Amino acid sequence: MERDYVAINREVWEAEAAHWVATGVRLWGLEVPVWRNWGASDASLNLLPADLAGIDAIELGCGTGYVSGWMARRGAKVTGIDISAAQLATPRRLAEQHGADIMFIEYNAEATGLDDAAFDFAISEYGAAIWCRPDAWLREAWRVLRPGGRLVFLGNHPLVLVCSPLDGAPCDLRLHRPYRDMWGADWAEVTFDPSGLCFNLTIAGWMEVFRAIGFRVTNYQEIYIPDHQTETSASVPAAWGKTYPVEQVWHLEKPA
Ligand SMILES: C[S@@+](CC[C@H](N)C(=O)[O-])C[C@H]1O[C@@H](n2cnc3c(N)ncnc32)[C@H](O)[C@@H]1O
Repeated sequence: MERDYVAINREVWEAEAAHWVATGVRLWGLEVPVWRNWGASDASLNLLPADLAGIDAIELGCGTGYVSGWMARRGAKVTGIDISAAQLATPRRLAEQHGADIMFIEYNAEATGLDDAAFDFAISEYGAAIWCRPDAWLREAWRVLRPGGRLVFLGNHPLVLVCSPLDGAPCDLRLHRPYRDMWGADWAEVTFDPSGLCFNLTIAGWMEVFRAIGFRVTNYQEIYIPDHQTETSASVPAAWGKTYPVEQVWHLEKPA
């Protein structure tokens, strides 16, 4: 990867932060988590353990920090990290409003500077999960997890990328990109909805990274767009995502 994707993505999020405040406010207020981008229900996914009492938890690329808020409400001692100072202003304010004692720190999820083996549970929902290079952020997550610790992350399904036109238009029923050797995509200069550099791998590619680091896969889930959704969202027409998976969730464990 020749481009300085960390700096490019930081700039994107410094500029985008104000547009995500309302979403953050809404999601912080939920009693029961729902997961992006199409509101997948927690009951079917179990991304967060019901009881996190006494657990040291970290959110990698926390954005507006509502996942950190949900974990704190379940009893975890939470650290949220993000590369964007502008983004971090939102969770700091919302944590105070909600009476949540959470440490939000400006760090790159690929090299946090946090202590080794400091956490029992790590999560990323469209944070490091898509904006960081898989081998780099997963190695860092491994380093900060204790033996027996768990990592859960949610991001786009690789099929969405394969079916996404090169100009950034919504995905359709054609194969626009090779699946083989997938690394992600540079959306910085596309015609429609430009953003930054996002990473994704083939399923075998993800498995290879997990194996090389030492993570054990405990579950893998594919998410479809729920029946009640009818709009195009996040460049995926609703009909597409009712037939093909739009999101994936990996549940990993660092063996004890
Ligand atoms: C779509 S938000 C996801 C977070 C949260 N679920 C939300 O929706 O508010 C993506 C976040 O990843 C952060 N991010 C991007 N690159 C990062 C990096 N290298 N290290 C840490 N955070 C990063 C961005 O600053 C942004 O806040």
